[in-house]
Amino acid sequence: MISGGAALAGVIGWPVAHSLSPKLHNHWLKELGIDGAYMPLAVRPEHLGQAVKALPLLGFKGFNITVPHKQAVMEHLDSIDDAARKIGAVNTVTISTSGTLHGTNTDAYGFMENLKNALSDTVPHLKHPVILGAGGAARAVIHGLIGAGAEEITLLNRTPARAASLAEHFAPFPIHVHPLDDNKALSRATLVVNTTSIGLDGAGAPIHDFSSVERQAPVADIVYGETAFLTLAKAAGHPTVSGIGMLIHQAVPGFEAWFGRRPEVTPALARMLLS
Ligand code: ATR
Repeated sequence: MISGGAALAGVIGWPVAHSLSPKLHNHWLKELGIDGAYMPLAVRPEHLGQAVKALPLLGFKGFNITVPHKQAVMEHLDSIDDAARKIGAVNTVTISTSGTLHGTNTDAYGFMENLKNALSDTVPHLKHPVILGAGGAARAVIHGLIGAGAEEITLLNRTPARAASLAEHFAPFPIHVHPLDDNKALSRATLVVNTTSIGLDGAGAPIHDFSSVERQAPVADIVYGETAFLTLAKAAGHPTVSGIGMLIHQAVPGFEAWFGRRPEVTPALARMLLS
């Protein structure tokens, strides 16, 4: 039900048509019987500042931010929290009753909640995670893993210099940097996470050979669905964790802040979003 008094939120991206967030939030709104709506907001990069400033005037409770605006939005906000500062990006904004904009980043939270739910006990897996990729998504995953108690992290990337600058960003936490094709660097992994964009187009995997990885180490992907990477990992005997759960969990804090109820995360949600 959407009345004249409906609570409004949305997701800003360019393009935004691929986003699963409207489907997810509107499903929860309906399920909980909340008078509200969540809209896709396609905003060109050159219009980002104007669009963000308009949303409090239009009565929005807040919004999500997706590609390519997650960094650029920061200069248009009144405040950002520690998680957003450390990750260097904002994905969730709340608008106060006086119209001020507060940014946070729930990607690290979403990644860790998904991991905890998918694996009965994450603690043994936090000893030495190996992360593939060194972009924005890797920053969120590393922030989450360090916060959850990881002891050391190995970072594999096609461009090692980019991984080295990420390691420096999280210093003095120990992050070891290797090229993406350095298979030996996988030998002490207690968890392997793909944060590269390989697989986003439905094909390809950042690594194909899991023979150096201990069989009990879970393999996670932040790309949605059953990726080639996860199929290979499963065939090699690893427990696997799909990225769709991260998308669902990262949405929970925003929904609760804007609409006042904490939505439930169920296995059926992932199937609904991917159908
Ligand atoms: P995001 O913010 O989503 O993490 P990004 O900042 O563009 O996206 O980072 C993409 C990651 O995928 C990077 O680690 C990138 O490696 P480089 O740093 O070497 O560019 C990795 N990546 C993308 N395409 C790749 C490919 N074809 N082979 C290997 N790595 C790739």
